[in-house]
Amino acid sequence: MHFLPEHIDNYVVKHSENEPELLQKLNRETHQKILQPRMLSGDYQGRVLSMLSKLIQPKYILEIGTYTGYSALCLAEGLTKGGELHTIDVNEELVDFQRKYFDASPFGEQIYQHLGNALDIIPELDHTFDLVFIDADKPNYINYFHAIVEKLRPGGIILSDNVLWSGKVAEPINDKDTSTKLLVEYNQLLKEDSRVETVILPIRDGLTISRKR
Ligand SMILES: C[S@@+](CC[C@H](N)C(=O)[O-])C[C@H]1O[C@@H](n2cnc3c(N)ncnc32)[C@H](O)[C@@H]1O
Repeated sequence: MHFLPEHIDNYVVKHSENEPELLQKLNRETHQKILQPRMLSGDYQGRVLSMLSKLIQPKYILEIGTYTGYSALCLAEGLTKGGELHTIDVNEELVDFQRKYFDASPFGEQIYQHLGNALDIIPELDHTFDLVFIDADKPNYINYFHAIVEKLRPGGIILSDNVLWSGKVAEPINDKDTSTKLLVEYNQLLKEDSRVETVILPIRDGLTISRKR
């Protein structure tokens, strides 16, 4: 999804940090071997996630929706020494693929994979998180927010991906389109919930930054 004219989008990407070699490899192998490679964050958004994580310098990161591990590795770049990234995915076929790339990175020992439904796993995680990335099934975004907001430290950040849903959230909604309806509700919740302050960045498919007050 390009919200900017393509030539400007290309300029932005060209003048931003390059995709690290390991992530280029992961990106390629995902496209060759794994279903729905469009789910992967990709080079530009990956560099944005890395930059945000380096600015936040988190000790504990939670990711909801690992897929092939691309965004986990980008976020891990900002971990403090001894920090941990916990990432959850329901698809057990991806576990070995993720681990291969985590172990090939400098962050292998800091990344903990959790297999299962995120709504079952989140209550079992006993950390106060500095940074949470929500990037799993869209109809559950509201549930994820409620499940993690009290596990976030004051000043902690929630990043939510795909919040513009190819622009559909700002157009008339088809009654059967549950994902769009719930994303519209989610965006409204983040705007109104007094526990967080929120800005939406119109990059890629829309990335929200919410900061806990
Ligand atoms: C968009 S992909 C994540 C992409 C990844 N964050 C990245 O940028 O490379 C969404 C992932 O969420 C996972 N998922 C969907 N529903 C889930 C659930 N209820 N609990 C945990 N993971 C779920 C899917 O298996 C899929 O791998």
